[in-house]
Amino acid sequence: MKTPDQIEKMHQAGRLLANCHQQIRSMIQPGVSSWDIEEFVEEYLAQHGAIPEQKGYMGYQYATCASINDEVCHGFPRKEPLQNGDIITIDMVVNLDGWLADSAWSYAVGEISEEATKLMNVTHTALQKGIEQAKVGNRIGDIGNAIQTYAESQGMSVVRPFIGHGIGQRMHELPEVPHYGPAGKGPILKEGMVFTIEPMINLGKHHVHVLEDGWTAKTVDGSLSCQYEHTIALTADGPIILTDQVN
Ligand code: MF3
Ligand code: CO
Repeated sequence: MKTPDQIEKMHQAGRLLANCHQQIRSMIQPGVSSWDIEEFVEEYLAQHGAIPEQKGYMGYQYATCASINDEVCHGFPRKEPLQNGDIITIDMVVNLDGWLADSAWSYAVGEISEEATKLMNVTHTALQKGIEQAKVGNRIGDIGNAIQTYAESQGMSVVRPFIGHGIGQRMHELPEVPHYGPAGKGPILKEGMVFTIEPMINLGKHHVHVLEDGWTAKTVDGSLSCQYEHTIALTADGPIILTDQVN
């Protein structure tokens, strides 16, 4: 549980992260690489006195995760240029004065297909439906149930092995926040909880596998995958989105 002061510190990290994503949005186009984005993020965070928390975390070597098309999460930034029609998810954790915020965002590269557009829209709406359930007195399971029910109603599937998590001065704290499962189960949501909601939605089946690099997760059926992630704080007045990009 975090105090209002601690939540404000995390909100400052979150605003910086949100601004960084907005800069990335303006960079994305065919010919730019995820390595260009990685270098931009390193520089942007350094300029603003922040640290990329993912770099060095459990041996991960980069500030960002960059997951393209059928990559689900934890892809490595690399020098191959993005191509027209790709979708890419950039995920990062910002450490500002010891307090963390975590947000992943998906971007369209040039003109994308109708089905990729639908996947992006459904995934973004799924995150919003999860956030709507993130209120004091509800249970953790209400969040995942809202996400799964909506995504499956649109003919898409929810990735199982990677879930949302509490966050604070460490990247991964309790509670665990699955994006699937029954409503009315799991811990009761309390004022002062801060956690991520980060659904990964696949156009095809939900199964994923991790490559021999030990990190990159891909869909088994080769279908496209998309992700949006926010860090959320629960207050008596409802959830605050600490990584909201309109701030
Ligand atoms: N940001 C990720 C999350 O949502 C964690 C990425 S794993 C790392 O939990 F090793 F790259 F940090
Ligand atoms: Co993340």
